[in-house]
Amino acid sequence: MNEQIASIQSAALELIAAASDERSLDDARVAVLGKKGTLSLAGALIKDIPNEEKAAFGQSLNSARTAITAALEEKQNALQAIADAAALSGIDLTLPARAHPTGSLHPLTLIRDEAIQILRRMGFALADGPEIEDEYHCFDALNTPADHPARNEKDTFYFNSGKLLRTHTSSVQIRTMESSTPPIRIIAPGSAYRRDEIDATHLSVFNQLEGLFVDTDVTLPDLKGTLEYFLREMFGTSTEVRFRPHFFPFTEPSFEIDVKLQIKGQAPRWIEVAGCGMVDPAVFESINATRKDNALDPGKVTGFAFGMGLDRLAMIRWGIKDIRLLIENDVRFLKQFA
Ligand code: PHE
Repeated sequence: MNEQIASIQSAALELIAAASDERSLDDARVAVLGKKGTLSLAGALIKDIPNEEKAAFGQSLNSARTAITAALEEKQNALQAIADAAALSGIDLTLPARAHPTGSLHPLTLIRDEAIQILRRMGFALADGPEIEDEYHCFDALNTPADHPARNEKDTFYFNSGKLLRTHTSSVQIRTMESSTPPIRIIAPGSAYRRDEIDATHLSVFNQLEGLFVDTDVTLPDLKGTLEYFLREMFGTSTEVRFRPHFFPFTEPSFEIDVKLQIKGQAPRWIEVAGCGMVDPAVFESINATRKDNALDPGKVTGFAFGMGLDRLAMIRWGIKDIRLLIENDVRFLKQFA
């Protein structure tokens, strides 16, 4: 082998042997095989070599390159093995994997989504309205007289501006009827606020789901059929449902709906779950007066409305005895719904 190339090769192998990490190994690679590396520069000399020596010189170059490349690769593997071992030291790969606990949906979210799903199947679309309402949308337009007890300061949270925290989601009925044209078929889940004394069955913030159906021939059997179907989907096909005459200012006739249910560990009994009724023509009349198209003429349209307590539904579904559990965010309670 050409002497000069032999000494380049041995210097290169020493350099590679001395490399202690990937960085110095890379430096060694460049110093020998790079464009200006020792072996590359030696290779360039081939043109000055007498023709009869060219073949031998070329062979020397090739075998040096092969040896150096092999040494680089071997060293690279060795360094990688050392790095792998260091990364794994102190880790016991036989230990079981660490658990990553994930959260879960809140029971109120679960019951709300289930209710929405059932009602959407029947063609109800989602609607929305503000929680800070005015008296017109919360009471007046809902045919609720000024001296009605629900409007009392003892029962309702008023702001100095005269606005209030909506006491029910029925205000969304009004907002929807102001802005859309029959047929109207909407549901509106959301918060409602009352100045109730807080106890096991009352909170000052609770959740309702409002429903409204307005068209030309909506009848009481439509209301009954819709809500019976809904409650049986919710609580089982054999659930008994009862419509009990009641009074709401904005529906006539009006009913409270009870379902006969057996809460875990209790005897079966009738439990009130919703209020409902046929939209009072006076409600259509007052909204119609604000529209130019006469689309809510009480002589042309009829409708039904209902409002139910989602907290109540959740408590029934899971046998929750204290409504406060729904807002305390105690993980021991919440993780049961995971
Ligand atoms: N808004 C009534 C309540 O909060 C429920 C209801 C809604 C009744 C729609 C009739 C029609 O008690």
